Amino acid sequence: MSAVGKGAVRGAAVAPQSGEPADGAPVPTHVAIIMDGNGRWAAARGLPRIAGHRAGAQAVRRTIEAAIRHNVGWLTLYAFSSENWRRPLAEVIDLTGLLRHYVRNEVAELHESGVRLRFIGDRARFDPDIQDDLRRAEQKTEGNTRLNLTVALSYGARAEIVAAARLVAEAARAGTLDPAALTEDGFARYLNTDGIPDPDLILRTSGEQRLSNFLLWQSAYAELIFLDVLWPDFGAAQFAEALAEFARRERRFGARPG
Ligand code: FPP
Repeated sequence: MSAVGKGAVRGAAVAPQSGEPADGAPVPTHVAIIMDGNGRWAAARGLPRIAGHRAGAQAVRRTIEAAIRHNVGWLTLYAFSSENWRRPLAEVIDLTGLLRHYVRNEVAELHESGVRLRFIGDRARFDPDIQDDLRRAEQKTEGNTRLNLTVALSYGARAEIVAAARLVAEAARAGTLDPAALTEDGFARYLNTDGIPDPDLILRTSGEQRLSNFLLWQSAYAELIFLDVLWPDFGAAQFAEALAEFARRERRFGARPG
């Protein structure tokens, strides 16, 4: 196994090749990423954790560019989990400050690039000024179609599923929904991700191999790729490498090979 930081793909059936996916290779419609390793990146350099998060924000920019270049239509980034509120207050303040800065300063450029922004998660937990910025960013970019970028903020999949179940129960009690007629697609309409296709590929950086409460319902048939690279070191090469590995996987959605 390669050392963390080298950027090798783990769990691949075939030795990973670096570089671009082959011409005509299947491109995932939706890539979702658990951006992990900012703290370790900073610690390895004797820097405060916020320096890792700032470098992580640069990796976010590179990743958006790479997704656009590869014609990936949907990109979802796990930027702040519902559990992240339990971090030391100073780090929470740093992270929310970075988010505020990012949304205020980058939306114009994202808009110019044709990016449509959406935010999922419990945004009510953020300061009202951030909530306003998030809403404005969504409104400004809602006509864009080049890349659908979803940022998960204060997001936890179990809470999302429970909230959906609560809405379903309320609709049943109000008589507007027949419980016997509820389908998987019908249930999914109550999730934060209504209107967003399920991810085909979920990446996690930093060598950890867990979903950590990210898109648990939506990931049912996603390919999972774990990269031995810390998030601030992630960029175009690692994105292309992950797409190449995705193209080598055979997806059967539970069906037998034909
Ligand atoms: C995980 O690294 C990363 C986070 C909790 C925050 C992710 C934030 C960014 C990438 C920057 C801002 C993003 C946007 C969209 C503005 P960690 O701190 O858990 O690292 P560690 O596991 O090495 O400690």
